[in-house]
Amino acid sequence: MRVLVAGGAGYIGSVVTTALLADGHEVTVLDDLSTGHADAVPDGATLAEVSLHDSAPVLAEVRPEAVLHFAAKSLVGASQQHPEEYWYANVGGSLALLESMRATGCRRIVFSSTAATYGEPETVPIREDAPTRPTNTYGASKLAVDHMLTSYAVAHGFAAVSLRYFNVAGAAYGLGERHATETHLIPLALQVAAGQRESLTIYGQDYPTPDGTCIRDYVHVGDLSDAHLLALPAPDEGEHRIYNLGNGTGFSVQQVVDAVREVTGHPVPVTIGERRAGDPAQLVAASDRIRTDLGWAPKHTDLVGIVRDAWDVQKDR
Ligand code: UFG
Repeated sequence: MRVLVAGGAGYIGSVVTTALLADGHEVTVLDDLSTGHADAVPDGATLAEVSLHDSAPVLAEVRPEAVLHFAAKSLVGASQQHPEEYWYANVGGSLALLESMRATGCRRIVFSSTAATYGEPETVPIREDAPTRPTNTYGASKLAVDHMLTSYAVAHGFAAVSLRYFNVAGAAYGLGERHATETHLIPLALQVAAGQRESLTIYGQDYPTPDGTCIRDYVHVGDLSDAHLLALPAPDEGEHRIYNLGNGTGFSVQQVVDAVREVTGHPVPVTIGERRAGDPAQLVAASDRIRTDLGWAPKHTDLVGIVRDAWDVQKDR
């Protein structure tokens, strides 16, 4: 298939681009390189260095049969301080992309949504029919695009899938997390192990969890990538599907730190800090829907293995 990958120079987008090429697809990456890296775009894909807002001429030229849309600002804290940037890039940018698609007759799309659309869960594991009450602008902006896709499916015959990622981690094809501003637990803990940071602050040890630290559902980027390839042909025109993507098992911040110590063989000094605003105690996915509908089954459910894959890529940098 001729596909356009918006945000294909980022962490998850570059992994999926590589998988699409391996699967025989013809790929154009559209990325403004605001947070992505040109060298993460694999050989064999064409890079158009353009923002979502200016995507129309690229789509008119490429005439993709499908779009995978990863391009977004994704820092929860920054979204609270500068909501205008998140509404402009994530919602305005996505609207521009959907209109570019409509103008060229492309109606198939897989969109990167997030667990942050749910907010503080009433019950864990979280199913797709749980209430969506995001507690930050990042989650709200992604939820707005989910709603956009529902209406484009109904009104314009789009065939859409929103994949709600939980905590994406690990590496595939030598591509791992590489953010100028790193806020995620696993890469930060690995930087401490590598001696690039002095210590890791654990945000709160007084949560109602067995060891008092927050529990998250870490899903391997390779498994996430498999889900995109399964999702791409799945919906019919007029259909918008929503799937959670997680392993279904939660690990605490303390367990992640222990896994980083085990994998790297280095000490990871920690200090216990205050809770981070907006962090729910537990976020674990019920991913039964995608398992049943599309036969998705994560292969990397072991935390140590996920951390090892991340370390193998990060330690060389
Ligand atoms: N944490 C620390 N210290 C750190 C960094 C993180 O203790 O230095 C803790 C956090 O408090 C949290 C856990 O580690 O309990 C994981 O934090 P991350 O920042 O790695 O990930 P989040 O769970 O906050 O965020 C992820 C995605 C977001 C998405 C969110 C959904 O990265 O994009 O899940 O709630 F919005």
